[in-house]
Amino acid sequence: MVQQTREQWGTRAGFLMAAIGSAVGLGNIWRFPYVAYENGGGAFLLPYLVALLTAGIPLLILAYSIGHRYRSSAPLSYRRIARPAEAIGWGQGWQVAICFVIAIYYAVIVAWGIMFVWFSVGQQWGEDPNAFFFEDFIQASEGPGMVSGYIPGVAWPLIAVWVVVLAILALGVRNGIEKANKVFIPLLVVLFLVLVGQALTLDGATAGLNALFTPDWSKMLNGEVWIAAYGQIFFSLSIGFGIMVTYASYLRRKADLTGSAMVAGFANSSFELLAGIGVFAALGFMATASGVGVEQVATDGLGLAFIAFPQIISTLPFGGALFGVLFFGSLVIAGLTSLISIVQVIVSAVQDRTGLGRVQAVAIVGGATALISILLFPTPEGLHFLDVFDHFINQYGIVLAGFAMIVVFGWILRKLPLLQQHVNAVSSIRLGLWWRITLGAITPVLLGFMMYSSLRTELTENYGEYPGGFLLAAGWGVAVGAIAFGVIVSLIPWKRADALERQVEENEAAKEGDR
Ligand code: ALA
Repeated sequence: MVQQTREQWGTRAGFLMAAIGSAVGLGNIWRFPYVAYENGGGAFLLPYLVALLTAGIPLLILAYSIGHRYRSSAPLSYRRIARPAEAIGWGQGWQVAICFVIAIYYAVIVAWGIMFVWFSVGQQWGEDPNAFFFEDFIQASEGPGMVSGYIPGVAWPLIAVWVVVLAILALGVRNGIEKANKVFIPLLVVLFLVLVGQALTLDGATAGLNALFTPDWSKMLNGEVWIAAYGQIFFSLSIGFGIMVTYASYLRRKADLTGSAMVAGFANSSFELLAGIGVFAALGFMATASGVGVEQVATDGLGLAFIAFPQIISTLPFGGALFGVLFFGSLVIAGLTSLISIVQVIVSAVQDRTGLGRVQAVAIVGGATALISILLFPTPEGLHFLDVFDHFINQYGIVLAGFAMIVVFGWILRKLPLLQQHVNAVSSIRLGLWWRITLGAITPVLLGFMMYSSLRTELTENYGEYPGGFLLAAGWGVAVGAIAFGVIVSLIPWKRADALERQVEENEAAKEGDR
């Protein structure tokens, strides 16, 4: 059985909300402020902007153009481009596997966020938020090992996250994803603006902003800073996941691809800057209240959200509960809309591959993904899996997949001129030579250097001082496993693909005829 017609977004605004919802996520709220601060503060904005313009927006347009032209899930779109060079099997399942790995741990962080909305109300972390988070709440084990327990306090919110995500996906692109984002994104903007407004009124906010924005120009010549900027743009814009190919495949024929990429790219970066301002204003307040420098309170990732913020909330003279609800509420909403997009990559690929209907695909593969997430992470060892999965799948999943897209489509198959033509036929801003130069030359060289440099560090020092065996199994295991999965899937004959392709083409021709 072949799918009759492909689902479509109801409106352009609906698509944009969903694309922004996917981009704005945990990466914006906790990753950006710290990455910017660590890498030159105000001076980081320069490499960040260069990364946005030379890699972020051009790759976003590449992904949009592929999804829009080939109107299929990421694997089927790549297959259609690659014919007759079908041997390139990497596209068939690699990004789907990457999305699977990210989804299973991303959901857990959203689940923690839900509990912290609740904990904020009575400041239930007490005097020591660090001990509360690691010992009382997630009950983290000292190091990785055999699973030694199960933590219902994490499992219940995690189940709730998965029920919400799968229910929205089961409702479909227009009635589920689009409607949910139309509610969630404006709500997120309002919550976050109130949060930043409150943060800016705190004593010491200026000290925090000075720490964030005072440029350290000496860092500009450091290659690591540039790598950090490109890494941030990739994760933050959801590039390399296959998400934007999938979302663009539901666009109507007449769709302004470049305009949409600009709006989504700049909206995401604006949100990121806003998050930097809010987070550092709050850190400035805490540093001033404790009589220490901002550098003493600025931490990254989990520490920032689940330890530093509870401390800030407890130190506030009044309005702490509101501040906590706003911060963790924003984290949950931003995370949910990104998680929805990550799981949709898997669902749409399975639909194309198997012919299953949407609800069945959501129930079977979405259900299986949820089950693994629910079994593995609410355990004392879950934190270590999360940390290592996150590190390896970002470095050797997303960025590598983005690099492979450029090499395969740009260099080997030489499809950039064709895709440029496609984009220019429908878009408001026409793509010029700059697009092919940035994508074909600047970005791959920088990304190649970035991969080489992080690989060298990886091989000389154990990430997070974890035992080598654990890094091999959990870290390299997921990164290489995702690639192996892609190759194996591509080797299995895909009988219905030809029929599906014919169907897509016939539908297109029929639509053309109706015009
Ligand atoms: N782009 C998403 C984020 O920033 C994945 O979290």
